[in-house]
Amino acid sequence: MKKWFIGILRKFHLMKSVDFLRYGLHYIKSKHNHRTENLPPSYFIYETYQLDYDKYLKDGKDTALWLRDYFAKYLTVNNIMAEENKKKTILDWGCGPGRVIRNMPELMPDFDIYGADYNEKYIDWNKQHIQNVKFYKNNLTPPLPFKEESFDIIYAISVFTHLSEENHFAWSQELLRVLKKGGIIFLTLHGDAFKDKLLKKELQLYDAGKLVVRDSNKEGHRTFAAFQPEKFVRQMFIGNEIVLHEKAKRKSQQDVWIIRKS
Ligand SMILES: C[S@@+](CC[C@H](N)C(=O)[O-])C[C@H]1O[C@@H](n2cnc3c(N)ncnc32)[C@H](O)[C@@H]1O
Repeated sequence: MKKWFIGILRKFHLMKSVDFLRYGLHYIKSKHNHRTENLPPSYFIYETYQLDYDKYLKDGKDTALWLRDYFAKYLTVNNIMAEENKKKTILDWGCGPGRVIRNMPELMPDFDIYGADYNEKYIDWNKQHIQNVKFYKNNLTPPLPFKEESFDIIYAISVFTHLSEENHFAWSQELLRVLKKGGIIFLTLHGDAFKDKLLKKELQLYDAGKLVVRDSNKEGHRTFAAFQPEKFVRQMFIGNEIVLHEKAKRKSQQDVWIIRKS
C-alpha cells in the first residue's frame, strides 16, 4: 500500500479495522491451502506472521535452525556451553502461537525451554498443543515471572518492533535482569531496510538516531510499528557488549542483533 494512504489510515485510527478486513481476504484465499491439524487458529497465524500454513511451518523450522547456528557460535565463545552437567535455559520472549519455539525441544535437547507472550490466547493455545516447553503470560509492561539470572539465552523475533519507546527501555532492562551474566540476547529489529517505508518526518528522526514509533494503534499489536536505528539500539543496551549487528541484506528484512550481558 502507498505510504500516504497508510498515513491517512493511521491518522484516523482505521489501521486495525482495515487490517482485519485484509485478514478476511487472506482467509478466503487460504481456504485452498493445505491446513494440518496441529496449527493455531488462522487469525493467530495472520496476526503474528502471514496466513500461509505450509510457509508458517517451514519458516518456523528454518528460523529455529538458523537461531541454533547463531547460539552455537556466540554462546560457545562465551564458554557457557562448556559448563558440564547443567541444563541450559532459553527463553523465547514474544513467542506468539509458537511458530519457532515448537521446534526447539527437538533441536535444542540440552536446554530447558521457556516461552512468554503478553497475549493470553496464544499462551493458552501453546500450553495445550506444544509439549516440553514451559509457557508463561506476561503483561505489556515488565516484569517477567522469572528470577534474576534465569536464562543463558533470550531471543525475541520481531517483538520490540511493536513497542513504544518507554517499553524499549523498560524491556531491555528486564531482559537483562533475567539473563545470566555472560548470556546472550538475540533480537530482530526494523533497521535500514525499512527506511523506504518511512514518511519524510519519520525518516528525519530515524536518520538522527531516534526511535520512530507509529503509535496510533494498540501497543503490542502487529499494526503498532517501531523502527530502530543503530544508535538507538546501542543506547538501549549501553554497558553491555554488542557482539553482532548484522544488517538486513534486502528490503523489508529485519536486522539481527546479539547482545552479551556484561
Ligand atoms: C510479529 S509477532 C512475532 C511472534 C513470534 N516471535 C514469531 O516470530 O513467530 C510479535 C509478537 O510479540 C508479542 N508481543 C508484543 N508485545 C509484547 C510484550 N510486551 N510482551 C510479550 N510479547 C509481546 C505479540 O503478542 C506477538 O506474539
